[in-house]
Amino acid sequence: MALVTLKDLLLRAEEEKKAVGAFSVGNMEMVMGAVAAAEDAGEPIILQIAEKRLKNSPLSLMAPMMVSAAKQSSVDIAVHLDHGLTLDCIDAALSYGFTSVMLDASLLPFEENIAMTQKVIEKARVFGASVESELGVVGGNEGDTAEHKILCTDPMSAKIFTDKTGVDALAVAIGNAHGNYPVLPELRFDILEQIDDVVEIPLVLHGGTGITDDMFRRAVSLGIRKINIATASFDHLAKYAKAYTDSVDTPDYFTLSAEMVKGVYDNVSRHIRVFSGK
Ligand code: 13P
Repeated sequence: MALVTLKDLLLRAEEEKKAVGAFSVGNMEMVMGAVAAAEDAGEPIILQIAEKRLKNSPLSLMAPMMVSAAKQSSVDIAVHLDHGLTLDCIDAALSYGFTSVMLDASLLPFEENIAMTQKVIEKARVFGASVESELGVVGGNEGDTAEHKILCTDPMSAKIFTDKTGVDALAVAIGNAHGNYPVLPELRFDILEQIDDVVEIPLVLHGGTGITDDMFRRAVSLGIRKINIATASFDHLAKYAKAYTDSVDTPDYFTLSAEMVKGVYDNVSRHIRVFSGK
């Protein structure tokens, strides 16, 4: 098995009517936990990191680790730049060997989002990499200070956008938000269905933390092929680390590291089971 492109994984998921989990990572323990969960489940995953997280986890350290973990894995793994904000970061991720990149130009006017996406596709194609875009506004934030107000994706605009750009995957806004939901979200499955009816390419659901298993299954039945999980993995790692350090007088690094891996492993395993229909 190998490092593969996002496009390959999502087309396979489309044939099998599944979704592939895209798990955010910020250190070695997170990479190890996510990959071990995928290998034990025998399912592909996407390892991803968002540009805003690079302050904590520099790309020059994370990228070689993510790419190497994917190459050595017994399952197929795509390595993805989540919420790329600058062309410099997209260039860097591509030269480190990421097999897909997302440009988040969703807050720009429609035509500018199209133009920026086309520019990123041109860059990615040189490396044989895939591109994800977002249309509409997903709520919350991804490592940002500003909260974004949800604006659902318009199905006809999604069709025009995907036809014009030739992008490989489209992230939709259907009431989903990044971070922990204060109350259970009401996802607009009616809008997702309309988007799925007119858009040919695989659809992506951001803001996976806190969405129920039933909602995930319904989203997958309506064309969602990539589901992003970040906060739940960070929270699991922190929770398992705290439980360990609270349980002993003198915590040692090696047990702490193993607990961090386990926290991420448990969270990723649970999501893989739901997304793959196991
Ligand atoms: P959560 O942090 O809500 O899981 O969202 C992850 C995400 O969509 C990353 O782009």
